[in-house]
Amino acid sequence: MRPFYVTTPIYYVNDAPHIGHAYTTIAADTLARWHRMNGRPTFFLTGTDEHGQKVQRAAEKLGRTPQEHADLTHTRYKALWERLDIRYDDFIRTTEPRHVQFVQAQLQKLHDQGELYQAPYSGWYSTSAERFWSDEEVAKATGALLKREVTEKDLHKPLDQGGVAGVCPDSGAPVEWLTEHNWFFRMSAYQDRLITHITENPACIQPDSRRNEVLGYLRKPLGDLCMSRPKARLAWGIPLPFSPEYVTYVWFDALSNYVSALQEPASRLAFWPEALHLVGKDILTFHTVYWFTMLMAEGITPPKQVYAHGWWLMHKVKMSKSLGNVIRPDPLIDAFGADVVRYFLLRDVPFGGDGEFSYESFLLRYNSDLANDLGNLGHRSLSMAAQWLGGRVPDVGPATDADRELATVAARATAEFRAQMDNVQFKAAIEGLWELVRAGNKYVDSEAPWSLNKRRVTDAAAGERLATVLRNSMEVVRIAISHLACICPGKSVEMLDRLGLSAPDLTPTLDRLVAGHDLRVGDPLFPRIAELPESLMPADPIVPAAPVAPAATPAEPVPALPQIEYGDFAKLQLRTGLVLTAEKHPKADRLLVLSVDIGEEKPRQIVAGIAAVYDPAELVGKTIIVVANLKPAKLRGIESQGMLLAAGGADIASILTPYRPVPAGSIVK
Ligand code: MSP
Repeated sequence: MRPFYVTTPIYYVNDAPHIGHAYTTIAADTLARWHRMNGRPTFFLTGTDEHGQKVQRAAEKLGRTPQEHADLTHTRYKALWERLDIRYDDFIRTTEPRHVQFVQAQLQKLHDQGELYQAPYSGWYSTSAERFWSDEEVAKATGALLKREVTEKDLHKPLDQGGVAGVCPDSGAPVEWLTEHNWFFRMSAYQDRLITHITENPACIQPDSRRNEVLGYLRKPLGDLCMSRPKARLAWGIPLPFSPEYVTYVWFDALSNYVSALQEPASRLAFWPEALHLVGKDILTFHTVYWFTMLMAEGITPPKQVYAHGWWLMHKVKMSKSLGNVIRPDPLIDAFGADVVRYFLLRDVPFGGDGEFSYESFLLRYNSDLANDLGNLGHRSLSMAAQWLGGRVPDVGPATDADRELATVAARATAEFRAQMDNVQFKAAIEGLWELVRAGNKYVDSEAPWSLNKRRVTDAAAGERLATVLRNSMEVVRIAISHLACICPGKSVEMLDRLGLSAPDLTPTLDRLVAGHDLRVGDPLFPRIAELPESLMPADPIVPAAPVAPAATPAEPVPALPQIEYGDFAKLQLRTGLVLTAEKHPKADRLLVLSVDIGEEKPRQIVAGIAAVYDPAELVGKTIIVVANLKPAKLRGIESQGMLLAAGGADIASILTPYRPVPAGSIVK
């Protein structure tokens, strides 16, 4: 049988894992389990990305060496994967000798082949994104932030002559103009081959929309890739074997993990032709343009498929540590168990699209699908069999139309599940299977085993029918929970055990349980949960500021103003806004410059006189109240597109935030 190789991105050791990271890993584990269950030799790789500036800086701050830092922090991922029942075959760390040696050997080969050359490089460098950006990219991002056109000339002019401080398209942080001598990979030489490869192998980038995006990107001439960093600026990386005063650019190093992990034992190389890389849409270009051309230069066929999924959002923005709006998986696992977290993330959003996370939808989904549909079918079938059939798997009698219809649904639903798993569409696969779960519940309702049980005292046929109905409903549970073994492995083992099975059985026919075998009822597998547990109540991303004892009286006398009509008040548009970034004003100590999402296409830039009371970092992720229709005004040279509300008059004591979490852009009145 064809082997199957699935990978996750390797995660930055600096970040504490959140559900965005868990998502890719759960998806990969689910596919790996599914293919293993179907007998395909499977290899599932995950790991951590341990080089680069961010790791070096974080380690310095903590007084550790970068290696010590990585040794300590990579375990956060391993610990979470264990809690989430992730069964990987290998966990690669980019600081391991096997990886470093492989990367160095590849680099030497590329160098010897003339694929690498040295040249000066100038560009806009973003420390937070650890990369250079082109004039055009920085101008676009800066213009978006300032809400006006910014030209490349504006960026190069000094600030006091009307120039503009450019920002990083990724993080919004300022960029600096830097010139360095570096090593370059002749990526441009592979542009035509890359386009041909993608066009001839349309499945190699999925979903289709993402492939078109990459092909669109390739319509412009592809530059060469700066693949080194001078050690003087960044020491924490893999040294170039032919030029030891440089280290390897972190992406050039990281992408190679997918092949370096297959070197030993050599038998692992058989997996490469079947490689499927699951990645978030933000790292698609790295995985298709950089990685594919690197492999072409190394004489290795690109992976069979790169599948890009969407983002988990919170209040409509990407969940990320820098925004402070992340959901940690641990409290959810504590409250609901790993299987439910796995189920929810795969069920709620089509793989490829973005999804808004909320605890409320988590609870709803749990109760409707797992407690009501599947849990209920399992629990009532087993309970009735225990009470009325001596707790044994019953024999089936002759089939009725209803039984035949149920069998048809079972065949259709499982075929759909299979097809959608092949398409990497977990949501559609689960929905397909749920046709069967719902049909199972309907079948029990309409066949009414409780009335058959009453009638069987006088009617032997009713007794036989009772056995058949319960047997069929248990077969449905067996089929559903066997297919779900790849998504909810723990609950699946438990339910199969109650049905007397030691392993999943994917056969879609209603005749697989062993008649006479002991059944075990147990507690409901997915008990109804009426309310969110208290541990999940405090909305994670909106952490209330530390309480400050209020002054007994306001610091300044409050002047009396004439009364106004409601119409005057109604002229104001007040909206909630999520603070995305906050920085000190370059020219005024009193002012901070915020970028705030108020539910419009682009964030607003708001300049506020709160620098004496707030550190920029503590504001990021907070929801504030913004006067949205105030005319824009320049404050010390920077435009403010609105105003935030704060209490305390001239001596601001506190910004205003909503009492409960509300989405960014909500009207305030
Ligand atoms: N180290 C690189 C990957 C190198 S792979 C050769 C990296 N690491 S990461 O830790 O920042 O991100 C890893 C993955 O997590 C990416 O696929 C990214 O898209 C995913 N997610 C991070 N935040 C996410 C969401 N909010 N939602 C869904 N996935 C997101 O990039």
